[in-house]
Amino acid sequence: MVKIAVLISGNGSNLQAIIDAVKHKELDLCIECVISDNPNAYGLERAKSAGIKTHIVQRGKELSKQMLPLVASVDYIVLAGFLSILSADFCDKWTNKIMNLHPSLLPKYGGKGMYGMYVHKAVLKNNEKQSGATVHWVTAGIDQGAIILQETCDISLDETPETLANKIHKIEHKILIEALKTII
Ligand code: GRF
Repeated sequence: MVKIAVLISGNGSNLQAIIDAVKHKELDLCIECVISDNPNAYGLERAKSAGIKTHIVQRGKELSKQMLPLVASVDYIVLAGFLSILSADFCDKWTNKIMNLHPSLLPKYGGKGMYGMYVHKAVLKNNEKQSGATVHWVTAGIDQGAIILQETCDISLDETPETLANKIHKIEHKILIEALKTII
């Protein structure tokens, strides 16, 4: 069975979507462990409740080094709201094995500093008519790897960063599972 490690920094609703899909036999894979660069991430509680091993890594230069032994036995790594940047060496070693989720229609609104609400605020500031979410492969260039799956949503006239974030979260929970199904 395919084994994955899920990397998180916060709430972990996308991690929960994977946990639920596995539980409901929609996805046939094993979440070997959940790794967080934030000891207070709520996603760690979600992992523990599901009986999944958890690990904490320290943010900073040595992060990728700390990660190596933790992911040694997995086939794929899923970045589900993981805020640290993995080193170029690490990304090269794991070409087409690390998947990331991004809350915009990449290549738009990607790159350094473009995460969470920063993305949605920038999208609304530019009066975009549509936004969406992207699942892509991770390479050394931030948010630049090949796109696996993308889904679009319309932006309504009274949209706020919060309502857009909610819409996009729902899309993410769906396309992340679809992308994992495609890969396994
Ligand atoms: C998602 O919006 C994802 O696109 C981004 O971080 C967020 C994580 O949300 N990379 P959650 O922690 O899974 O709820």
